[in-house]
Amino acid sequence: MNIAVVGAQWGDEGKGKLIDILSKDVDVTVRYQGGSNAGHTVIVDQARYVFHLLPSAILRSGKVCVIGNGVVVDPKALLEEIDGLKVRGIKVTPQQLKIAVNSHVVMPYHRVLDGLREKMREHKIGTTGRGIGPCYADKVTRCGIRMVDLLNPRVFAAKLKDNLREKNEYFKKVFGQHGFQADPIYQEYMGYARRLKPYVCDTALYVNEAISQKKSVLFEGAQGAFLDIDFGTYPFVTSSNTIVGGVTSGSGVAPTKIDKIIAAVKAYTTRVGEGPFPTEFDKKMEEVIRTKGKEFGSTTGRARRCGWFDSVLVRYAATIGGFDELAIMKLDVLDELETISLCTGYKYKGKLLKDFPHDYEAICNLKPVYEEMPGWQTPLGQIRSYKKLPVNARRYIERMQELVGVTIKYVSIGSERDEIIVR
Ligand code: IMO
Ligand code: MG
Repeated sequence: MNIAVVGAQWGDEGKGKLIDILSKDVDVTVRYQGGSNAGHTVIVDQARYVFHLLPSAILRSGKVCVIGNGVVVDPKALLEEIDGLKVRGIKVTPQQLKIAVNSHVVMPYHRVLDGLREKMREHKIGTTGRGIGPCYADKVTRCGIRMVDLLNPRVFAAKLKDNLREKNEYFKKVFGQHGFQADPIYQEYMGYARRLKPYVCDTALYVNEAISQKKSVLFEGAQGAFLDIDFGTYPFVTSSNTIVGGVTSGSGVAPTKIDKIIAAVKAYTTRVGEGPFPTEFDKKMEEVIRTKGKEFGSTTGRARRCGWFDSVLVRYAATIGGFDELAIMKLDVLDELETISLCTGYKYKGKLLKDFPHDYEAICNLKPVYEEMPGWQTPLGQIRSYKKLPVNARRYIERMQELVGVTIKYVSIGSERDEIIVR
């Protein structure tokens, strides 16, 4: 059985925890898009691990993790992650980690450009500053550097030179910056290439071969549906297809091979960075949820914006994502609330909208329509069976299920591995 796990909101839905749990029963876990902008947190025996590029299953020895061709790989960040695990006693071997030969490489100028472009924009995106957008842009404009290029010094040197010839003009004339010298970058990246070479292979062949041997594969999405480059709240999005459609182009596995799609959904909503957020709380309520839910970005440390659960958003994500099951994450964060609101639609210019509008002014000015439900005001952390949940918690879950139209299979009630209810 091959499963894809995706985020249904603006990222940070708890995909890391869900994948860590599901990966126990799969052979191969594949990241298919994004880069070190992701921050997937896994907590095991009170030890906290945050993964940016490595698939979250890396903690399970004997399982294979793949960084697919759709990922933009920052070799420096990746090696730091591998070295960081080594310090904690976890060795990442080439048997365990495979990196796509045709994945694109994040270069120092991508990170700098990410920052400079943000600075110049009037309407800032609030990127993670990891060079993600500029790296994907180079891929599409066909001047990107891929893993395979890094492994061939002659090709790498020529491509780097070509890139810098154009980019340095841009750095100097548009941003008044010095630009980059080829040699130090060449030396630095040749060092990364030496270390990463044993991990690099044709991962599309590897994963398809695994599937034909009846091994099970889990595709690990990063970010969420509303950060998707096509379907998200553009331009306040990331630069890849975060939806399940990204699996095919980002890993080389046909859609017919995906048997099940599970979406991670937070029991409320959060967003990091700029962009419209219809159900965003007022400052006071935001503080309550942010503190209880520890809502700070795991990549940049930024405080996350918080709001009520928005069923319009998640229903749209379910439509374009073909979700089979939902996993409701962080339900315990709502434990103390007297009442809980759910957004069921939007009011705009006197009309009731049942679907997410694309017009920027509409998204910014619409008013969410809420339904209020009584809270359960009981700690859920110790509960392990659905039937034992307080009736108000079950009512909330069942109402979410009804509004989104997808079965809720998992309910997470804490951050540890075992703090999850399977229905
Ligand atoms: P995980 O996988 C939350 C957001 C950034 C910014 C926008 C574009 O942990 O859910 P980028 O650096 O990608 O160009 O930034 O996307 N963003 C995320 N927000 N979780 C993430 O990943 C994110 N990755 C990017 O905050 O608004
Ligand atoms: Mg994140």
